[in-house]
Amino acid sequence: HKKLTIGLFGFGVVGEGLYKALQQTSSLNATIKKVCIKHPGKKRNAPEELFTTDKDELLNDEEINVIVEVINESEPAFEIVSTALLNGKHAVSASKKMIAEHLPKLLELQKQTGKSFLCEAAACASIPVIRNLEEYYDNDLLHSLKAIVNGSTNFILTKMFEESLSFKDALLLAQQLGFAESDPTLDVDGWDAVNKWAILLTHAYGIVEHPDNIVFSGIQNIQSGDALVAKEKHYDIKLVAQAKKLLNGKVAAFVLPQFVKADDHLSFVKNEYNGVVLESSFADKQFFYGKGAGSFPTASAVLSDISALRYNYRYEYKKLYHHIVPELSEDFYVKA
Ligand code: HSE
Repeated sequence: HKKLTIGLFGFGVVGEGLYKALQQTSSLNATIKKVCIKHPGKKRNAPEELFTTDKDELLNDEEINVIVEVINESEPAFEIVSTALLNGKHAVSASKKMIAEHLPKLLELQKQTGKSFLCEAAACASIPVIRNLEEYYDNDLLHSLKAIVNGSTNFILTKMFEESLSFKDALLLAQQLGFAESDPTLDVDGWDAVNKWAILLTHAYGIVEHPDNIVFSGIQNIQSGDALVAKEKHYDIKLVAQAKKLLNGKVAAFVLPQFVKADDHLSFVKNEYNGVVLESSFADKQFFYGKGAGSFPTASAVLSDISALRYNYRYEYKKLYHHIVPELSEDFYVKA
């Protein structure tokens, strides 16, 4: 296998996790040559000479053939990924918001440059859900998807309703454990979930829809009284992302808090875990389950992308535009 020389942007929860995981993975012929960071003063658990604040040191280094980008800010992330691709490097990203907001341009760049753009870590962390959705070679096969795609809100709901923690304490714990975004309202109000849903809709159905055009809500209005009602009726409350093929060839999609029956697969998904239930023509029902947030679970998805680059894996987007919804049409949305 060819040698992969990585330029890494970001050394936060995911970046450091990736660095540590790579050190424990000798079979992967991949090394991090340089890490670009924003704040040089911070104490970091890696040799000092690894770090730089000059992005061009990575982007213009001819030996570096893979750029991995796991930073926080959306616009700089897009800049890094597009420059990497245009400079003839593969790009791996975990920036959900950036990807969701720039899908059309990213697809175009992958096509134009012939390089791979992979983002398995951007949705459901450890679950290889994007890779699997790509394998539904014809989107007519895929009837529906139902998923929990945000670890923090699922963690908060679990802690609040099963362990009687306050919302504030549960959120604090999610932050301490490295599940929450640096601005946790992104999780709580549903932005993170809808960004991930936009990405998964592209891989499931070839829909390229800006997250602003997808109906969503977070868990900001859920109260303990709601949980009591749910419990009495043997339901759980979950933040559920759903998509369903309609008879007219369009797809209905949304992210909303829902009552979930106790015998539903999603009811089994607790704490920072994520789950995706698919229904398809031949495979019938499938359930993907795994950790959806956290340092190593997210790093594991980045690692799987790096590994896939050894055999030049690219997303084919072969289903692209089959079921695209060209404008905001009412039947794109179905209320829960
Ligand atoms: N804040 C995100 C979550 C991290 O809680 O799911 C993983 O994408």
